[in-house]
Amino acid sequence: MKNILVTGGAGFIGSNFVRYALSLGRDIRIINMDALTYAGNLENLEGIAEGSHYRFVKGDITDADAVDRLFEEEAIDTVVNFAAESHVDRSIVDPQCFLKTNVLGTQVLLDCAKKHWKLFPNDKYSRDYKEGVRFLQVSTDEVYGALGKTGRFTETTPLSPNSPYSASKASADLFVRAYHETFGLPVNITRCSNNYGPYQFPEKLIPLMLNNCIQGKPLPVYGDGMQIRDWLHVSDHCKGIFAVLEKGRGGEIYNIGGNNEKANIEIVKLIIEACGGDEGLITYVKDRPGHDRRYAIDNTKISTELGWAPEYSFGQGIAETVKWYLDHKEWTANIVNGDYMNYYGKMYGDA
Ligand code: NAD
Ligand code: TYD
Repeated sequence: MKNILVTGGAGFIGSNFVRYALSLGRDIRIINMDALTYAGNLENLEGIAEGSHYRFVKGDITDADAVDRLFEEEAIDTVVNFAAESHVDRSIVDPQCFLKTNVLGTQVLLDCAKKHWKLFPNDKYSRDYKEGVRFLQVSTDEVYGALGKTGRFTETTPLSPNSPYSASKASADLFVRAYHETFGLPVNITRCSNNYGPYQFPEKLIPLMLNNCIQGKPLPVYGDGMQIRDWLHVSDHCKGIFAVLEKGRGGEIYNIGGNNEKANIEIVKLIIEACGGDEGLITYVKDRPGHDRRYAIDNTKISTELGWAPEYSFGQGIAETVKWYLDHKEWTANIVNGDYMNYYGKMYGDA
């Protein structure tokens, strides 16, 4: 039995990962630790029963005692760290909580893993670890910064983060690297492009536009709408993470991307078409400060080494995603009825 600590498993990608991992019917137990911030939602995990294969623990990854207790109680042998503050716009308003969760939280997890997994924990020179342990840091292509019109990010592209969010993720990646280099901790880092799919919090582009379109509200496009992202269905991301867990070489970074570059305005128009909305709703608003122009992932390493490839075409993925949001209006309504409207008002005003 593998005992996998999934952090941030009540969020968008984490909850999809929990579902995917449990659906495989393997001999694994998932311990999902999530602080249930504004982005954590237990409704994302509806239908997943607590028992021998799954346990939910409300807890904060910056709380070293709580993390340490979990490692002890559950004999954790694998960590998949999704827990993070994840929204660029919020990082522009309040950078400090990004530093706390994304950097300090990651370092707390690394320290507990080192303490519990080292065969000789009191020997600072020892690099011997228990058999089969692994720390996987879920990172992002945003750590590489922005691309011009051509080129794609490889695993050796220098880190050049531009937002407080991406700076915090890059810093966390460097701590993961340092724990590998200094202490020999068995780690991997995955750096994925923009995800879309079910259970994504409606502050992010696709669910925000979908929700507004359904309600006939303005669709706030930043700047000229020609910024490019490389979109990947969340289930393909989860499969990539699992492939790295099972077959990734220790200490390696793997980029995960969809070979699917789209300008934001294209996405917005696709959503309008899929919902039967009106292009008149498109409202160009002031650009995000420090807005990265283009991201694109070169996924040669993960595809050639681990045999991973995206299974979803964008057409199929976006059609299913639109249908999911239309079929789950209550899920969005429950979020929108909370603090979300305060955030929305501060962020977009009347737009
Ligand atoms: P999300 O915001 O939907 O979920 C984050 C989860 O982490 C929430 O459940 C939240 O409650 C939890 N959390 C926050 N602070 C915590 C803390 N201190 N302790 C414990 N739990 C805490 O984010 P997401 O979109 O699912 O992203 C998950 C991870 O994947 C993040 O690390 C993000 O950087 C990375 N990532 C996201 C994307 C994307 O397109 N969304 C792309 C690449 C990488
Ligand atoms: P987002 O979903 O926030 O992801 P990220 O910034 O991590 O790539 O945004 C995706 C793109 O959509 C990004 O270029 C910013 C843009 N965007 C808008 O134009 N309007 C919006 O209301 C939002 C939320 C994003």
